[in-house]
Amino acid sequence: MRYPLVIGNWKLNGSTKMINTFIPTLLKKLSKIKKYNLVIAPPFVYLYQIQNLLADSIAKLGAQNVDINSFGAFTGEISAEILKDIGAKYIIIGHSERRNNHRESNKIIAKKFALLKAKNLIPVLCIGESKIENQAEATQRICAKQLDAILKTSGNKAFENTVIAYEPLWAIGNGKSAIPEEVQKVHKFIRNYITQKDANSAKKVIIQYGGSVNPTNAAQLFKQPDIDGALVGAASLKVDELVAIVKAAVDAKQN
Ligand code: 13P
Repeated sequence: MRYPLVIGNWKLNGSTKMINTFIPTLLKKLSKIKKYNLVIAPPFVYLYQIQNLLADSIAKLGAQNVDINSFGAFTGEISAEILKDIGAKYIIIGHSERRNNHRESNKIIAKKFALLKAKNLIPVLCIGESKIENQAEATQRICAKQLDAILKTSGNKAFENTVIAYEPLWAIGNGKSAIPEEVQKVHKFIRNYITQKDANSAKKVIIQYGGSVNPTNAAQLFKQPDIDGALVGAASLKVDELVAIVKAAVDAKQN
């Protein structure tokens, strides 16, 4: 069955000092909850430190990107092999900040997706439309195009055991989340789209929402039947906010 998953995407934030306080505090605050699904995705250089701090917990380690190459003369890159070696499990790919700032195409993202699956890592595929596209009512077309790139490369069962994060660009980093009922419509579209290819993987694929998720809007978002958790940016850097979001995810799906 699908489980509500919260991933903290720390983006370009964090420090050794902050992490040494943040992670133990987080785990202590969550210690009364028997089962929750939380991933922390810090900048690469902090993966090892966080992995050690998470070692005795049920929280998992994630990363924010991966290179398409496995080893060799690729200065500055990190491979799926290295991520696996360090203990990362969930790997974010196709974030709009990478699509836009680093010109990552659907084709490159599809390569990364296939590579991660081959290494038994879980891709967290970010998709979503810009404000202009949203205003032009092109949301479904854009999402379908981004999904098609993956389906074309990895086949109809591509989304088996993976995560999709629907992140409308206009809702990221500004405190203005999309309306839960509207998000639900897009998530339902995404699930139906995958159902046409493979009903089993569509039923199981975790579809997170991302874009200004916080303790105030989390419960309402998680109540929607096709919203299976959240990819959280800013609020995942505040321990009490992250705890509240994880609790909202656990509560919503228990009811
Ligand atoms: P915010 O939660 O800061 O809007 O960021 C969302 C995001 O981009 C997560 O990947």
